[in-house]
Amino acid sequence: MKYIKTFSDKDAVSQVALGCMRISDKTDKEMDFYLGNAVELGINYFDHADIYGRGKCEEVFGAALKRNHTLRDKIYIQTKCSIVPGSMYDFSKEHIISAVDGSLKRLGVDYVDVLLLHRPDLLMEPAEVAEAFDELEAKGKVKAFGVSNHSPLQIELLQREMKQKLSINQMQLSITNANMLASGANVNLPCEDGVNYDGYLRDYCRLKGITIQPWSPLQYGFIAGNFVDNKKYKSLNKVIDELAEKYGTTATGMAIAWLLRLPEKMQPIVGSTNHDRIKSVAEAADVTISREDWYRIYREAGYRLP
Ligand SMILES: NC(=O)c1ccc[n+]([C@@H]2O[C@H](COP(=O)([O-])OP(=O)(O)OC[C@H]3O[C@@H](n4cnc5c(N)ncnc54)[C@H](OP(=O)(O)O)[C@@H]3O)[C@@H](O)[C@H]2O)c1
Repeated sequence: MKYIKTFSDKDAVSQVALGCMRISDKTDKEMDFYLGNAVELGINYFDHADIYGRGKCEEVFGAALKRNHTLRDKIYIQTKCSIVPGSMYDFSKEHIISAVDGSLKRLGVDYVDVLLLHRPDLLMEPAEVAEAFDELEAKGKVKAFGVSNHSPLQIELLQREMKQKLSINQMQLSITNANMLASGANVNLPCEDGVNYDGYLRDYCRLKGITIQPWSPLQYGFIAGNFVDNKKYKSLNKVIDELAEKYGTTATGMAIAWLLRLPEKMQPIVGSTNHDRIKSVAEAADVTISREDWYRIYREAGYRLP
């Protein structure tokens, strides 16, 4: 495992993190193993959101942490707020503060290391968000802040009002969902890959030192299913498998190593709860793919090089 500094100069976080969106039905025994195993593999960063399993994911994680309380100081916990399921996104001061209080209670902790705004609220008032962040920081409930699914200008708008640096942006990114990259290779070209959907977020984040956390790094579509080992992606998987063998990793490991080959700070958030896959992604941090092989996967995934 490799470690990087993302939200502070002091804290070294594992380059691969685990996302806890799929743990709501795990038993105590499974959760104890999941947590202990991750830490043993060098993974020290866990991503949550108040809405995962409608709170259940934070709850089962919190219960596991209580049973394994010595682990709290060895891990970083990130959670997200703003989505009110099925109805709206809410960046009001009251909502942000009460959402964090709810997360702290379910997780059974006094603070979270990082809080992200989950999806941009179309009615956002940056000064109000700043007030909420100041209060959460002053009360020691949140150490650092970031966003998810935000464009460069939305980040600028928020950042202008804030004392704290927004140091993370969590975005969907995988081999099969890489418009964020493809648009950078097709600037000003009238083709599908040339359409930029994110305001050139990748370049912006690199310029500002904001870490991108690719969410659903093994999924195609909008969390439609995994592409690794999937017959729908036969030729892509053939190349991935061949290169996995070359680099002494698994196909899952290759999918993560491909993201980590990007030169800027990337911290993929992997949602697997399977031991072998988690081991592969932890080991993937130590695999460095050649430029030729990186582009081979990129081309095989269907992106064009003009
Ligand atoms: N910010 C946002 O808007 C947002 C949105 C969605 C997710 N997220 C975050 O991103 C994290 C990861 O998302 P995700 O869970 O969708 O990511 P993922 O890591 O891309 O997908 C994990 C899922 O794919 C399955 N899988 C992977 N490879 C497989 C294979 N070869 N065969 C069978 N199943 C396979 C896993 O099953 P196994 O458990 O069996 O391995 C698991 O169910 C979430 O936990 C959450 O923290 C953020």
